[in-house]
Amino acid sequence: MSINAIIGGQWGDEGKGKIVDLLSKGVKIVARYQGGANAGHTVYYNNNKIVLHQIPTGVLRDKSLCILGKGMVIDPIGIVEEIDCLNENSISFKDRIVIDYYAHLVTPIHKMIDRETELKSGNKIGTTCKGIGPTYSDKFNRIGLRMVDILNNNYLKTKIEERINSALENNEINKNSIDELEKEMKYFYECCEMIKYFIKDSFPIIYNNINDNILIEGAQGTLLDIDHGTYPFVTSSSCSSGGIATGLGIPGNKVNDIIGIFKAYVTRVGGGPFPTELFDEDGDRLQSIGKEFGATTGRKRRCGWFDAVAGNYSVKINGLTGVALTKLDILDSFKKIKVCTHYEFKGELISNMSSVLNNLEDIVPVYKEFSGWETSLENIESYDDFPKEAKIYIEYLSEILEVPIR
Ligand code: IMO
Ligand code: MG
Repeated sequence: MSINAIIGGQWGDEGKGKIVDLLSKGVKIVARYQGGANAGHTVYYNNNKIVLHQIPTGVLRDKSLCILGKGMVIDPIGIVEEIDCLNENSISFKDRIVIDYYAHLVTPIHKMIDRETELKSGNKIGTTCKGIGPTYSDKFNRIGLRMVDILNNNYLKTKIEERINSALENNEINKNSIDELEKEMKYFYECCEMIKYFIKDSFPIIYNNINDNILIEGAQGTLLDIDHGTYPFVTSSSCSSGGIATGLGIPGNKVNDIIGIFKAYVTRVGGGPFPTELFDEDGDRLQSIGKEFGATTGRKRRCGWFDAVAGNYSVKINGLTGVALTKLDILDSFKKIKVCTHYEFKGELISNMSSVLNNLEDIVPVYKEFSGWETSLENIESYDDFPKEAKIYIEYLSEILEVPIR
C-alpha cells in the first residue's frame, strides 16, 4: 500500500496522462492537487483519443475514485464537457468523482479577465486563457468563490454580481463584452447545477484511505511552478511536489514515491525563456515527428534538446525517487542527439539553474553530443533489447539527473 506521485519534470506536456493511466491500475484513489483546465492529459481509451483537463486520468479505471483537490481551480463548464466526453465513451463515473468543497471556482468572469489581460499585455505569457491566473489571484486576495458556494445559490449569485461590478469598475473586463458575459453566465449557472452532486469534503475520504494505494496526478511542470519556475512565465499554482501537501492535505512524509515525467527532449508552449530551444531543422523534426501541438490550445509547441541543468534542478526541487522517460522513439531517426550539460553565463560554466533563473535569455547552452540509434524502438518490451546507443543515452541522463530512470 503506498502513495505515489506523478510530477511534470519540465515545462508540461511530458506525458503525465499516459503514465498515470499506466500506474493507476488497481489504485483506489487518483487525485489532483493543483491547476485546472489549463492541463491537457491525453490518453487513448479503446483507440479513442480522450483529453482530460480537470478530471484525473484515473477515471478511465473503473474502480478508481477521482478527487479534484482543494488546491485546484475548477471550471464547471469544463467539467460538464468532460463528463459529456466520458458518457460518449461509455465510461461510468457517477460515484467516482469528488470535487473538494474548498477548491476555487473559475467563472466566465475569470476567463474573460485572462483573455483581456493577455490581449493588453506587452509581455505575453501566452496563457491557456482558462482563467487560471485570475482565479488564483482572487483566491490569494481572499475574495474567491469556492465549490461549496455553488451549494448556496443566493450567495453565489450575489457574490458573482459583485465580482462582475468590480471587474467593470477596475477595467479588468471590457464594458462592450457585458452581453457576451451575461450569456455565458446563464450557461455557467446551468453547469453549476449539473455538477453539484460531485461537490464533497475530500478530507475524510483521503484519511479513511490513507493506508491504501493512492496515486497523485500533477499537472503542468516544475519549470512552470509559481515559486520554482521561470517566473513570470509560469502558471499560477505549485506544480512541483510541494503543492501536494497544501493542495490535497497529504503531507510530504506520507508520500512514498515521487516519479518525475521527462520527455526525451524538451518542449514548451507559450512565452518565456527556453535555453535549449532549436530554430533549425532538428527543432522542426522534433515538432513534426513528435506531433507537438498543445492538447488544450492546439498551439505548436516549441522544441529543443534535453536540458539536464533544468532536469537536475527539477529532480532536487521535487525530491524525485525515479524518472519515467517518454517519447524516446521520437528520436529514432536522428543521427546526432544532444544533451545540455551546463549553461555558460558571463564566461562561467553553470550547473545550478536556480542561480540563473532570472538570466536565462543570456545563457549559452553547452552540449554533449550522442550518436543516434537510427532504428525503430517500436515494440521493444525489455530494456535489454534497446539498441546500444539508446542505452548510452538513457544511462547518461540517469547519471546527470542523479536519479534512476525506471
Ligand atoms: P499539462 O498538464 C504545458 C503554460 C501556458 C503558459 C503558462 C501559463 O498538459 O502539462 P496558464 O493558462 O496556466 O495561466 O498559462 O503555462 N501551461 C502549460 N504548458 N502544459 C500544461 O499543462 C500547461 N498549463 C499551462 O502555455 O505558458
Ligand atoms: Mg498540456
